[in-house]
Amino acid sequence: MKKIKISPSILSADFSQLGNEIQRLEKGGADLIHIDVMDGHFVPNLTIGPPIIKKLRNHTKLPFDVHLMISPVHKYIKDFAEAGADIITIHPEATKDLNNSIKHIREFNKKVGVSLNPDTNINIINDHLKQIDLVLIMSVYPGFGGQKFIPDVLNKIKELTSIKKDNNYKFDIEVDGGINFSNYKSVIEAGANILVSGTTIFKENQGDVKKNIKILKTI
Ligand code: DX5
Ligand code: ZN
Repeated sequence: MKKIKISPSILSADFSQLGNEIQRLEKGGADLIHIDVMDGHFVPNLTIGPPIIKKLRNHTKLPFDVHLMISPVHKYIKDFAEAGADIITIHPEATKDLNNSIKHIREFNKKVGVSLNPDTNINIINDHLKQIDLVLIMSVYPGFGGQKFIPDVLNKIKELTSIKKDNNYKFDIEVDGGINFSNYKSVIEAGANILVSGTTIFKENQGDVKKNIKILKTI
């Protein structure tokens, strides 16, 4: 039976209480903490950077699943690695040399993730699949929480799952954006093993994160 991991996005958390919110997620059964970093340039929104991640680091033992929606991204990898990121996920469009950026993340002994936007094809990362730990499939256009899931992405997840199986690759398939109680099962069936969710986890069932995380883990 495939183990499903939940990586709640703190973009939907109470930003005035981030330390407590992260502890609430840990107690609520989260497996990772998804931290959405936005620079107002790669995406039309601005969130948090290394200093805040550094402050949050001691609030939990859970891995920090850091999603860098910033460009250029290469020169900031060091800062996020030193701030306490465990997984550093970058967008191929945000670096001049994806291979070099992957190697740079490895230099800090961090897990490497590469993220594909809804209209970015898998083939642009084909040559890198054996050297990365995670593919983050975006099921919304990045920049904001609370957007609607794009169902066409299910075919991309299925395509990636068969490439992974055919080549015996080991990367995790994480899906991010608009995941809710009516679509999460189809995302898992398509091959995802990590689900990112912000709005559903923080807003459903009067914000009972423990209950919402449990539902998303139930297949
Ligand atoms: C969007 C972020 C997602 C988003 C998920 O750019 O990468 O992680 O916060 O939030 P929901 O689950 O609300 O779509
Ligand atoms: Zn994200």
